[in-house]
Amino acid sequence: MLDWTDRHCRRLHRIISPRARLYTEMVTTGALLHGDPHRHLDHDAAEHPLALQLGGSETADLAACARMALDWGYDEINLNCGCPSERVQRGAFGACLMAEPQLVADGVRAMLDATGLPVTVKHRIGLGREESFGFVRDFVGTVAQAGCRVFIVHTRNAWLQGLSPRENREVPPLRPEVIGRLRADFPDCHFVRNGGLATGEAAAAALQDGADGVMIGRVAYQQPMTLAAMEAALWPLPPDTEAETPARPDALTVVQALQPYVEAQHARGVPPWAIARHCLGLFHGLPGARRWRRQLSDPAFVKAAGTQCMLRAAEVIQGGAEER
Ligand SMILES: Cc1cc2nc3c(=O)[nH]c(=O)nc-3n(C[C@H](O)[C@H](O)[C@H](O)COP(=O)(O)O)c2cc1C
Repeated sequence: MLDWTDRHCRRLHRIISPRARLYTEMVTTGALLHGDPHRHLDHDAAEHPLALQLGGSETADLAACARMALDWGYDEINLNCGCPSERVQRGAFGACLMAEPQLVADGVRAMLDATGLPVTVKHRIGLGREESFGFVRDFVGTVAQAGCRVFIVHTRNAWLQGLSPRENREVPPLRPEVIGRLRADFPDCHFVRNGGLATGEAAAAALQDGADGVMIGRVAYQQPMTLAAMEAALWPLPPDTEAETPARPDALTVVQALQPYVEAQHARGVPPWAIARHCLGLFHGLPGARRWRRQLSDPAFVKAAGTQCMLRAAEVIQGGAEER
C-alpha cells in the first residue's frame, strides 16, 4: 500500500503470518527504470513468497521491469489495474487500464515472455457507476487469453471522477458476488477477493463463498495481529498435527521475534523508527494498546531507547517498567 507499507512492514507481516503471500506497494515502471531500483526492489529473503506490484502501461517498460523483478528474485509480478488516483490516471495506468483490456493483455504477455514468472492482475469490477457484469467479464477474458491465471479483484467499482482514493475504497458498494460469476465463466482462472475483509471469520467465509483466496489491505496494516487470526482461519490444521505446531504468535512474541531484524537493520544504518512505525497497531484491542502507540510515537522515547525501543515499550505496557 503506497505510503504505508515497505520492506520493513513486510518483514513484520511475515513474522505474524508465515504463509501469506506478500505484495509490495505499487512501484511505477518510471521509478524503476529512471530512479533507484535498489530502493524499491531490495528485500529480505524471509519476505518470500513475495510479489512485486507494478504500475505502468507501456509494454516494453513493463517487460523491462519484469526482468528486474526476476533478477531480484521476486516470485510473482502483479499489474495494478485498480488504483483510481488522479496522478495515476494522468500516467494512464491503474484503474483506467480497465477500459483498455487489450493493452493490459499485451503488457501481461510481454512480462510472461520476458520472465516466465506468474503474472497476475489486480483490478476493480467496473468503472464509474456502470455495474454491468459484461464489462469485467470482457476485461478478464481478454487478459486471461494473454496468460494471466490469477486475478485479484477489489470487489467495488472505481469512480474515476469526483471521489478521492480514500473515498474510492469506501463509497462504491462492495459486490463480492461478482467473484462467483467470474469463476463460473473462467474455470481455469483463480479469483482472489479483496475489499472489506477484516477478520479471520470473514476471510474463511469468503473462501466458502467461492473465492480462491483473499487479499487483505488496511486491516493488515492498522491491526497487524489480524493476520495471525487470518492465518489460523485459512490454514486450519488437521487435529493430529496441532501439538507439533508452534502456537499462534501473540503481539509480545512478535516484538521479540522482530528484534534481531531491528538490530541487523540498525547496523546497516536503518533507524529503529523506520521499523517501529509499522508496529503502532500491533497491540490493537489489547490492554496497553494506547500506551504502546503513545510510547512509540514519542520521538524522545524512541531516540533514548534506540534499537530497544519496542522491547522497552512492551515492558512498559506489561507493567514491567515505569512509563518514561
Ligand atoms: C494508503 C493505501 C495505499 C494503497 N496502495 C495500494 C497499492 O499500492 N496497490 C494496490 O493494489 N492497492 C493499494 N491500496 C488498496 C488496497 O490494497 C486494497 O485494495 C483496498 O484498501 C481494499 O482492501 P481492504 O478493504 O482490505 O483495505 C492502498 C490502500 C491504502 C489505504
